[in-house]
Amino acid sequence: MANERFQSPRGTYDILPKDAPYWRFTRQVLREEAESSGFQRIEVPMFEEKRLFERATGDTTDVVTKEMFGVVRASKMAETDKEDSSQEFVLRPEFTPGIIRSYLEQGMQALPQPVKLYTDGPVFRYSRPQKGRYRQFQQMDYEIIGDGSAASDVAVILLTWNLFKRLGLADSVIVDINSLGDAKCRPKMRKALLDYLSQNLNKLASFDVARVQKNPFRVLDSQEPKTIAVVKAGPQLVDLLCDDCKREFKQVLELLDELGIPYNLDPYLVRGLDYYTRTTFEIRRKDDETRQNSLGGGGRYDGLVELLGGRPTPAVGAAPGMDRIIEYMQEKEIKIPETKLTDVFVVAIGEHALKVTIPLVEALKAKEILTGVSMARDGLKEQLALATRLGARLVIIVGEREVRDQSAIVKDLDQGSQETIPLGDLKASVVKKLS
Ligand code: HAM
Repeated sequence: MANERFQSPRGTYDILPKDAPYWRFTRQVLREEAESSGFQRIEVPMFEEKRLFERATGDTTDVVTKEMFGVVRASKMAETDKEDSSQEFVLRPEFTPGIIRSYLEQGMQALPQPVKLYTDGPVFRYSRPQKGRYRQFQQMDYEIIGDGSAASDVAVILLTWNLFKRLGLADSVIVDINSLGDAKCRPKMRKALLDYLSQNLNKLASFDVARVQKNPFRVLDSQEPKTIAVVKAGPQLVDLLCDDCKREFKQVLELLDELGIPYNLDPYLVRGLDYYTRTTFEIRRKDDETRQNSLGGGGRYDGLVELLGGRPTPAVGAAPGMDRIIEYMQEKEIKIPETKLTDVFVVAIGEHALKVTIPLVEALKAKEILTGVSMARDGLKEQLALATRLGARLVIIVGEREVRDQSAIVKDLDQGSQETIPLGDLKASVVKKLS
């Protein structure tokens, strides 16, 4: 039908040119901060086996039970197709399980430990869309695999903190932190929670009653006011930590104090994913007490590598959510540095001029001078406006007359001057002007 219209799917949005500089800057900051702290880039597939997330993220979590998008072939399977049709795939709802799958599959356990990896990209969760909550959103993610020390917990929090600092948000955010204990103290914690919640079942929101037996830790995460009141009167996880976990958690907090990273000890922070042990944290806007729109979260997950078939290997990581961070930067009107796209902008008017300017552009690029060229048929005024927008210092104009005279007009936009230079001297002259 001619008047049929299409819309982006619910919970997704387009990143338009006006917002693109924020995304570019945020990714660049991630790359610089992560790589200068010794993290290496990894990219994992956007879809993986469903059972990977069931096993890793956890089959009692909302993410796995309610929010995964399945991946199926839209066309009918061919008779001859030999692929195993019993495999089920989903779009990744987070990065951590895919990265650990790759760590094991690609033999990274044999490398010197720890292995430090970072990435960023889209992840997918079928949640009810609202401001700050999307079905396709983007995370930055970094993991330190193979080191169980408090120093690694702090390295991950520090990288997170440095990202927020570089993005202009350090004064507006705070780190909520807690410890969930390890395999030793976890059963004791679970029992204490289970006993307490079981005695108070009739006071919990009905939605949370079913979670008590399945995974009592999930109840601490509840947003239901009735449940929150019960939780707040109950046992605090930090009081139930074993001596080792207590000592390590204290070390983490002392290191954070030393680094001047502001934190808030939150004894009810459990995070929404099953793999966490010991230190867990979330970073939130100072004005968002409920953590409804947390800007990032992470923690230690010492059992996951083993759970996915590897040797016991401690690990810790975090994932800031880029959509929420960028929305917050825009809300706070944080200016990002202008990216210089061009030093020299070349305007060729007419076919003959193009033949002259293309080799010139290539020669300047070879000298690592950012050079843009316009082949559009716009008037000179529009071309000069484009050169200014791209931040060019010099504009080189070659028209029919210049081709005939074997020369070019060079405008210096910073100095407001203009001169005609023979083509043979052009490259040397541009290099000199810019140096
Ligand atoms: P997560 O807390 O599930 O952790 O997600 C991390 C961040 O992603 C959140 O803090 C939030 O900023 C953003 N986010 C989550 N859901 C949405 C949504 N529907 N719309 C927009 N942004 C959202 C993880 O994913 C773990 N893999 C983090 C980690 C890495 N732990 C250890 N290593």
